[in-house]
Amino acid sequence: METQIDFHTARALLEWQVELGVTDAIGDQPVNRYDLPDQHRPPRTAQVAADQPGQGAPMPMAKPKGPDPVAEARAAARAAGDLDALQAALAAFDHCELKRGARNLVFADGVRGAPVMIIGEAPGRDEDREGRPFVGRAGQLLDRMLAAIGLSRAENVYITNVLPWRPPQNRDPRPDEIAMMTPFLERHVALSAPKAIVLMGNISCQAVLGKRGITRLRGQWQQAMDKPVLPMFHPAYLLRQPSAKRMAWADLLELQAKLRQS
Ligand code: URA
Repeated sequence: METQIDFHTARALLEWQVELGVTDAIGDQPVNRYDLPDQHRPPRTAQVAADQPGQGAPMPMAKPKGPDPVAEARAAARAAGDLDALQAALAAFDHCELKRGARNLVFADGVRGAPVMIIGEAPGRDEDREGRPFVGRAGQLLDRMLAAIGLSRAENVYITNVLPWRPPQNRDPRPDEIAMMTPFLERHVALSAPKAIVLMGNISCQAVLGKRGITRLRGQWQQAMDKPVLPMFHPAYLLRQPSAKRMAWADLLELQAKLRQS
C-alpha cells in the first residue's frame, strides 16, 4: 500500500534525516523500504519456478507510453528566443529525474555573447548549492587556467554544462539524460554565438561530438554545432593527475592562438 504524506510531514522527515547526518540523495528516486519484499523470502518468480518448472519466467514489462522527452526538449529549446527564455524553458522541463534531486538549476555563468564558451559535464555539490557552474575546486583551477591566457568569466568567457542538474552522488550522466539535454545545449550554443567552444572532458565530448576518448581527442580542433570545438582534459581530472597539466597548457595555447586568428 502506498502511504501519502503531506508537505509538512515530508519536510519534517527530511529535516530529521539531515539532523541524523544525511547529506546526499543516493538514488534518482525515493525508495520506501517498508514496501520492499522481505529480503529473506525467495522472490515470487523463483518460488513459482521451483513449484512449476518452466512457468517462472518473469513477464516482460510493457514500456510505459508517454511523451518522448527528446522531442519535448527539441520543441521547448526551439521555442526559446533568447537565453532568458532558454533558462525558463529548462526550469519548466519536467522529464529529467535529476531535477527532482537537485537544489538548483545550474544554467550558466560568465559573459553572455563572450568569444569563448566552455561546456562542462554537470554540477557537483558546490555548484548545486550555488546555482552556478564550476565554483568548486575544479572551477577554481579552471579560473586559474583561463587567467593564464588572459581569459576570465568576468570579461570574455561563458560557461555552462551538458546537464543543468546535479546527478546523485556525482555519478556519470546516463545516455538518456544526455540525449534529452542536448537540444537545450545546441540552442544554448546558437543563442550564445561564441567564436570557439572548449569541451571539458568526456561527457561533453559525448554530447557534442558523439564520441569519447579525451586522451586522444584533446588539443585537436573539430567542427561541431557550427563552431570550432576544442576538447580538453577536465580540470577535475587535472586535480587528480597533475602530470597532465603540461598537455592542458599546450591546449590552452592552442585556444589562445585560435582566438588571435579570429
Ligand atoms: N564539473 C563540471 O563539469 N561542471 C561543473 O559545473 C562543476 C564541476
